[in-house]
Amino acid sequence: MYIPTALSYDDVLLVPQKSEVKSRQDVDTSTQLTRNISLKIPIVSANMDTVTESAMAIAMAQEGGIGIVHRFCDITKQVSEIKRVKRKQNIIITHPFIISSTATLADFKNKSEELNCSAFLVSDDNTALLGLITRRDVVFCSNDQTLVRDIMTPREKLIVAPVNIPMEEAKKILKDNKIEKLPLVDANFQIKGLITEKDIMRNSSNTQASKDNLGRLLVGAAIGVRGDYLARAVTLTEAGADILVLDIAHGHSTNALEAIKIIKRLLPHMELIGGNIATAQGALDLIEAGVDGVKVGIGPGSICTTRLTTGFGVPQLSAVLNVAPVCKKYGVPLIADGGIRQSADLVKALAAGADTVMMGGQLSGTEESPGPTINYQGRQCKISRGMASLTAALSRPDAKEKHHQITPEGIEARVPYRGPVKNILARYLGGLRSGMSYGNAQTIKDLRNCQFIRITKAGLKESEAHDNEVL
Ligand code: XMP
Repeated sequence: MYIPTALSYDDVLLVPQKSEVKSRQDVDTSTQLTRNISLKIPIVSANMDTVTESAMAIAMAQEGGIGIVHRFCDITKQVSEIKRVKRKQNIIITHPFIISSTATLADFKNKSEELNCSAFLVSDDNTALLGLITRRDVVFCSNDQTLVRDIMTPREKLIVAPVNIPMEEAKKILKDNKIEKLPLVDANFQIKGLITEKDIMRNSSNTQASKDNLGRLLVGAAIGVRGDYLARAVTLTEAGADILVLDIAHGHSTNALEAIKIIKRLLPHMELIGGNIATAQGALDLIEAGVDGVKVGIGPGSICTTRLTTGFGVPQLSAVLNVAPVCKKYGVPLIADGGIRQSADLVKALAAGADTVMMGGQLSGTEESPGPTINYQGRQCKISRGMASLTAALSRPDAKEKHHQITPEGIEARVPYRGPVKNILARYLGGLRSGMSYGNAQTIKDLRNCQFIRITKAGLKESEAHDNEVL
């Protein structure tokens, strides 16, 4: 039997090219995530419950990447995480938060804290505008039983605008009247939206962010292929998710292919990423089933033990190299998922044909990952766990198996606390920009013209810091 060799990131290096890149700051790191969604940086945070909920997804999108909210919770929780991201930054809030005129000040305070929102439109039927209440209105009110209607600014005193008001005009109204909120209504005072000064400022100051056409941050949501997956797909789409990501360990399976066809029939305009696969045939089958992006990676992840448990997997560089020609032929972007430990791996993945990389472990130690920071032997740490690890399997609401019936394909791990995700991304981006200059690459696609060479153990040893005591 002929047994081919397969390679991983550490087995290769890229050969430096004569470079016409004048400044590393000039290179273009933008890329396609799916057929119809582009990003300014090629990094996606993994749909793991120790990596991506709303805080991570917000930070990723603000830096030009994107986060995929995990599915290891009930639909309501996943939807609320998606909504938090979509509400973080708007040009127009299409469904503003509303409070009843008969609610009390105590209700306002509770709701304010729960939704992390300092102002509410007032309406008794959720449609007709009665007034506006903000934190400023309640500063001097000490009786928690006071009714909203007695402290709100009533509609007669409010400045409002029609829903189709041009943005420049809305900005002028906010500025001239020194107000922070501009409710949008129709001729009958029916609520149609809200424009806030804060959102306008945020939007104009961050041109790097990944945004939809309403100025809201982009976010993806993971779904499975069984149980409530269709209900999830529909509800998440309605909640504003921009992409659905099929989260299944063996994506080259009839279960996955069937699910893709069903989802695409039901939600033809929704971007759908399929995976995970590690072969050209796997990619072809996903693309024929209708996906808009292909996720590659069987077992390279920092917390994965699939290869040890099952004997299956393909070293990640070879997996990307094998799949890339198919993705290129059909114009479907490739996401290299797992095994990224340093910026060189990102550069190698892109040079091998990936359009983006998905990262879990490296982001799990950041401020924005879910879960607390713990102190272990004087060092700050966070937890990273495989979604097929023992504790993850046991903590699922629908877990039927008992401890001894579960065969884990992942582990739980402690990872060092790494501070804000922004800092990690800056390091990766710095490495990528520098790598692009070594490779004479103005764009990520140009990196694909670079040549790989295989290296030996001696070459790897030489690549690392050596013959000194690393401080
Ligand atoms: P990194 O290396 O970035 O990889 O931490 C993240 C990716 O690992 C995958 N993943 C798993 N794979 N068992 C596996 O074999 C698991 O329990 C598991 N959990 C996550 C997933 O593709 C993720 O994006």
